[in-house]
Amino acid sequence: MSVQSVTLEKIVALCKRRGFVFQSAEIYDGINGVYDFGPLGAQLKQMIKAAWTKNVTSFAEDVVLLDGSILGSAQVWKASGHLDNFSDPLVDCLNCKKRFRADDPDINLDKACPSCGVKNWTGVRQFQLMFQTNLGALSDAASVAYLRPETAQAVFVNFKNVMTSSRVKIPFGIAQIGKAFRNEITPKQFLFRMREFEQMELEFFCKGEQASSFFDLWCERRKQFFINLGITPEKLRLRPHAADELAHYSKACFDVEYEFPFGWKELEGIANRGDFDLSQHSKFSGKELSVFDEATRTSYVPHVVECSVGVDRLFLTLLFDAYYEDNVEGEVRTVLRFSPKIAPVTAAVLPLTNKLTEQAENLYLDLKAKGYRLQFDASGSIGKRYRRQDEIGTPVCFTYDFQTLEDGTVTARNRDTLVQERIALDQVEGYLQRLLA
Ligand code: GAP
Repeated sequence: MSVQSVTLEKIVALCKRRGFVFQSAEIYDGINGVYDFGPLGAQLKQMIKAAWTKNVTSFAEDVVLLDGSILGSAQVWKASGHLDNFSDPLVDCLNCKKRFRADDPDINLDKACPSCGVKNWTGVRQFQLMFQTNLGALSDAASVAYLRPETAQAVFVNFKNVMTSSRVKIPFGIAQIGKAFRNEITPKQFLFRMREFEQMELEFFCKGEQASSFFDLWCERRKQFFINLGITPEKLRLRPHAADELAHYSKACFDVEYEFPFGWKELEGIANRGDFDLSQHSKFSGKELSVFDEATRTSYVPHVVECSVGVDRLFLTLLFDAYYEDNVEGEVRTVLRFSPKIAPVTAAVLPLTNKLTEQAENLYLDLKAKGYRLQFDASGSIGKRYRRQDEIGTPVCFTYDFQTLEDGTVTARNRDTLVQERIALDQVEGYLQRLLA
């Protein structure tokens, strides 16, 4: 039986089959660009977020956390530049009424619409990507607010609050994880381009003269973070933005890119934002956002190096990178080769037959009570149960069999090598600890 390579369709199907990701409100035909995360998906997201937080707070410089609001007033988005600049070029087909991004490589305005085959385009116009809403009962200009299109602005507007309450000193960072919303014209490639997604953003504040060396340092740290999560190093690269690609706030930007089946694409953006953000908010709010340098007895506006990655985009990257098919006993086996550090389930406990369920369950409950992420599975043939665990990326299965009753050992079966070894029951926890170290 031939083994094919990974495709987006296979990932989407696996995600649904095994409870990683569902189309939002699927029973009502779904919402385009919005997804719900099932039990394993929710767990994997937790793993990703915990790994990110641990990583960005592990270096010598202080990095503190923030959990800002999702709703932002029009003033915030005016000052940030999003009200004026955060738009994509939109074009409509007057025949089939479909909308497209005019800069989509698949769209050529000199040719017919790819959906209906008729050439009848509107002119290109700018489409604001922020979702607008109104606060309270009145629907007037003063009540307008926006769902945040990035988490970063909550960090900038709270810069002084954090500095004065936390006693942190420049250079330091503020890290935040939270939902962001963009009314993407054409959500694409499953979790790659969504309308509701989650970001993990680090805003690192430093003196202007330090910005370029911190920018280089964070580029290296961020790439290494993905390698440490188990992502294939050859499928990662740092790509500098050309001048005409830079966002309105950016002085320099590198993307960490991953080689997806649909090409090299941005996984994370790392930007030297200069003093744009604090200067803008200071100007628009009338509040002083500079800091005083004791050494030079002068005030300055800190510069910002930003590292911004989508939880969902990293989730998708991990799935693509871990997906693997091989041939076992004439059948195609699908495996997610997650690093044990992020696998949603670390180990499964499987009784060989129903007669052993109670004893095996004792092992499972004992380990579960100690905080390990485990599954217990007693239904179906042992081969089928191994396949189920392979497909969700469980690194090891412990099988409780009749020999266990005799000599107190279980089989530890390795997901990747398929090697089975016997280990004593009192060694199982040590085995798990080594796996997670
Ligand atoms: N604060 C900077 C910022 O938001 P960005 O390049 O627009 O920069 C940063 O977004 C990261 O957020 C991207 O690298 C990607 O991982 C994720 N992201 C952006 N738009 C997304 C979308 N529509 N769906 C899923 N993830 C998205």
